[in-house]
Amino acid sequence: MSDAAFDPVRAAFAPEAIGRTVRLRGWVLRSRSSGGILFLLLRDRTGVVQVTGRRDALGDATFDAVEHTQVEGALEVEGTVADDKRAPGGREVRARTIGVIDAGEPFPIFAEQTEEFLLDKRHLAIRSQDHVATFRVKAELLRACREFLDREEVLETTPPILSGNAAEGGAEAFQIDYFGRPGFLSQTAQLYLEALLVPHERVYALTPSFRAEKSRTPRHLTEYLHLEVELAWCDLTGLESFVERMIASVCRTVAERRPRELEALGRAPKELAALEPPFPRMRYAEAIDRLAAQGFPVRWGSDLGTAEERALTLESKVPLFVTHFPRELKAFYMLRSADDPRTVEATDLLAPEGYGEMVGASCRETDLDRLTARIRELGLPMAEYEWYLDLRRHGSVPHAGFGLGIERILRWMLRREHIRDTTPFPRTPARHTP
Ligand code: 4AD
Ligand code: MG
Repeated sequence: MSDAAFDPVRAAFAPEAIGRTVRLRGWVLRSRSSGGILFLLLRDRTGVVQVTGRRDALGDATFDAVEHTQVEGALEVEGTVADDKRAPGGREVRARTIGVIDAGEPFPIFAEQTEEFLLDKRHLAIRSQDHVATFRVKAELLRACREFLDREEVLETTPPILSGNAAEGGAEAFQIDYFGRPGFLSQTAQLYLEALLVPHERVYALTPSFRAEKSRTPRHLTEYLHLEVELAWCDLTGLESFVERMIASVCRTVAERRPRELEALGRAPKELAALEPPFPRMRYAEAIDRLAAQGFPVRWGSDLGTAEERALTLESKVPLFVTHFPRELKAFYMLRSADDPRTVEATDLLAPEGYGEMVGASCRETDLDRLTARIRELGLPMAEYEWYLDLRRHGSVPHAGFGLGIERILRWMLRREHIRDTTPFPRTPARHTP
């Protein structure tokens, strides 16, 4: 049968649907039979509807086949829409015919299973209501990001994922065998975006990034979706303003377009929609003072880890920019601050309520000599950065950019305990299957 021959489940809930014939196809969410009547909940991408089928209407063969269909089995149904107060949504479809597309084996996922089992069965677990709602919110988040960037005239580009050098530093890069030569999975598209920046001035890429970090924290994945933006003629003030407008805008858009999913996941859409720029800013030096006053063993030069970031924003409902980090904590390409040679023009955006860094941003060093000196100082392989240094030889202009971790922002938006719940097939040090 052609696609047009079927109705979406939501059609059964249209005001004028009562008494009409619908043809549905979908998956069995639940089923039972009693007294010669089948009660099914049928699910498709548009909703869930109760389907009833009488043995005398369907015939013995069909009735028995449907009765033996398992949870997550697939069916085609033709029937009449009727009011039924007891059914979810107040409607049911009284079946005249039911075709079994796949009766299915007993579905292995039910309540009270261990996290490990559910991760082993992730390919099936992603059918659950929570996962469905989560990945619809995620799709909306990606769309909202793209729409915002489109309005800002930032061009989408497609940098490579495979590369001959490890942009952010070798230690956390996944190395592969590239026909007998070393290759790396991308940790960031930034260096390529800096090259694409010159002809286009405002560019972005949405690509997977890979980090071989062994840290088993609730906010690290080894593969994550990275939205990176690079803007010409941009300083730290302009960068922060761009980032906060984007974050507020995408939160509002997602809240407007996915209120039901957000509510189902326990997040009030109103809270997300209320986020307004500007977000507060705090220099690293002040962050360190505050943390020290709270008893953290930190001093100038200490990195801000999970616990420190958490402490800085735990009580806050809005994100926080932490700026002007010591340059030894940050990557080689960051621009040194004019007013303090110890710091770089970098800003991390920390999510509210202790969820930690979701954006890493900085102005880039544009001067060939200072950049070369920094690469040498850090002992990075100069030859591999030759092409990147060329960018400073030909029309080098002030520019800045950032990377947003899509699963990081989603984790905060949905207040998920673990980042793995924000991606269908999480990649962590412990697993890369299924
Ligand atoms: O702060 P990071 O390392 O910055 C960069 O890679 C820059 N080159 C980006 C740029 O300026 N174009 O990473 C950026 C963001 C982090 O703020 C975080 O949200 C996310 O990427 N991220 C991770 N998300 C999930 N799992 C991990 N292991 C992550 N590592 C970074
Ligand atoms: Mg960072």
